[in-house]
Amino acid sequence: MKFFLDTADVSAIKTINELGVVDGVTTNPTIISREARDIAKWADNIVVKIPMTMEGLKAVNVLSKENIKTNVTLIFTVSQGLMAIKAGAAFISPFVGRLEDIGTDAYQLISDLREIIDFYGFDTEIIAASIRNTVHVENVAKRGAHIATIPDAVFDKMTKHPLTTSGIKNFTKDWETFKNKVE
Ligand code: G3P
Repeated sequence: MKFFLDTADVSAIKTINELGVVDGVTTNPTIISREARDIAKWADNIVVKIPMTMEGLKAVNVLSKENIKTNVTLIFTVSQGLMAIKAGAAFISPFVGRLEDIGTDAYQLISDLREIIDFYGFDTEIIAASIRNTVHVENVAKRGAHIATIPDAVFDKMTKHPLTTSGIKNFTKDWETFKNKVE
């Protein structure tokens, strides 16, 4: 499973990249499909984010034939995911938090999409997006998301637990006591 960092904050990218757990970065979709070719020239590992619309799918189809990778974003149903996969998307982004907001089971969507991708041998990868907490990350990992794109604040929480903090405090205290005894 890969982790992407969902931010445009360069200093957060630098800090979290030092942990060695980040495989990529996503930013918010202000990109319009007609600008896609220029954006793809910025670097050889750029993926163009395209909204899930009819026009978006047309762009995905054209770009995939030019070997330009696309990430179709704002996926909320299996049908939308299937359409994006069939149009040639390299990535599809179901939105976990926003589905939860409307009381829909986002994890079922992720496992359904993964089942379809594996059953037919499609190359498309699922990026679980709209991740807002550590439980979201844990659940999308269990349901087969190839990638989770995670805000920096959630990355930070993924390293922490109160019992880890208190455990370190106690070990430090015990070490000081031991040192004082032997000195
Ligand atoms: O990955 C998509 C993300 O940027 C949107 O998150 O919390 O606004 O649904 P949110």
